[in-house]
Amino acid sequence: MKPGTAQEHTTGRVAVVTGGGSGLGESICHHLGQQGHRVAVLDRDTEAAQRVAADIRAQGAEATAVTVDVADQGAVNAAFTAVRDEFGPVEILVTSAGVSGFTQFEDITLNEWNRYIAVNLTGTFLCAQAAVGDMVAAGWGRIVTISSAAGQTGALRQGHYSATKGGVIAFTKTLALEYAAKGITVNTIPPFTIDTPMLRAAQDAKHLPKAEYISRVIPSGRVGSGDDIGAMCAYLCSDAAGYVTGQVIAVNGGAVM
Ligand SMILES: NC(=O)c1ccc[n+]([C@@H]2O[C@H](COP(=O)([O-])OP(=O)(O)OC[C@H]3O[C@@H](n4cnc5c(N)ncnc54)[C@H](O)[C@@H]3O)[C@@H](O)[C@H]2O)c1
Repeated sequence: MKPGTAQEHTTGRVAVVTGGGSGLGESICHHLGQQGHRVAVLDRDTEAAQRVAADIRAQGAEATAVTVDVADQGAVNAAFTAVRDEFGPVEILVTSAGVSGFTQFEDITLNEWNRYIAVNLTGTFLCAQAAVGDMVAAGWGRIVTISSAAGQTGALRQGHYSATKGGVIAFTKTLALEYAAKGITVNTIPPFTIDTPMLRAAQDAKHLPKAEYISRVIPSGRVGSGDDIGAMCAYLCSDAAGYVTGQVIAVNGGAVM
């Protein structure tokens, strides 16, 4: 069967999820697995990636774990080669790997700034570049980047983080423009607050308030879940979403409109 023909290929696509070992990425992996896709769980945390891949297999879908630092071009290219060797050409890419933190602007060191850019922005670029050739060859592809509300509105003590996420949003729109005519959609989901280890670490360090306080500034009245993001991501990666591209699809309980 030729890959890339919508009618022939509604499930069982090859999906790569970076940062798949935790939080949003983990939920996204499960949602894509539930759609029948073969899921490659990419993460720098080998044990976490293996645990998520094993959980997905236990639920009856195909999954594999690949260790990668998305900021390292050689490692990214090797990881995508490993996925192709096991599952075939990459058809879906979701970039959730990211680092976050809070530092007063004047205290952000160049090293810290460069690390955020390397993981959040360059990592997104490297993975998209590693994946898109397969999608062009197939005439079908789905890319979803995970950005952040911080990239839409700015965020206190997150000059480095918000800059990377604003960059991801602009990068997503440009990729969408360049690949729309090739059957590839590119969209971004900018979460506000989702209950994940990243959020809990920020709460434990007192950078962010507890969920009950955050919930007061969210019109829906609650912090989001990984499933909120995973469900939207699965839709954006489906055939049904073929006319949705270049969009900033906020899944945030109305926190940013
Ligand atoms: N949780 C939130 O409220 C929230 C809000 C806005 C945006 N986001 C974004 O969502 C994404 C996922 O965040 P999360 O809350 O699930 O965080 P998380 O810390 O739970 O998961 C992030 C995963 O990325 C992996 N990772 C980090 N650096 C990596 C690297 N260099 N190479 C490969 N893997 C790497 C980590 O090992 C981890 O498994 C991030 O891009 C984050 O900025 C999260």
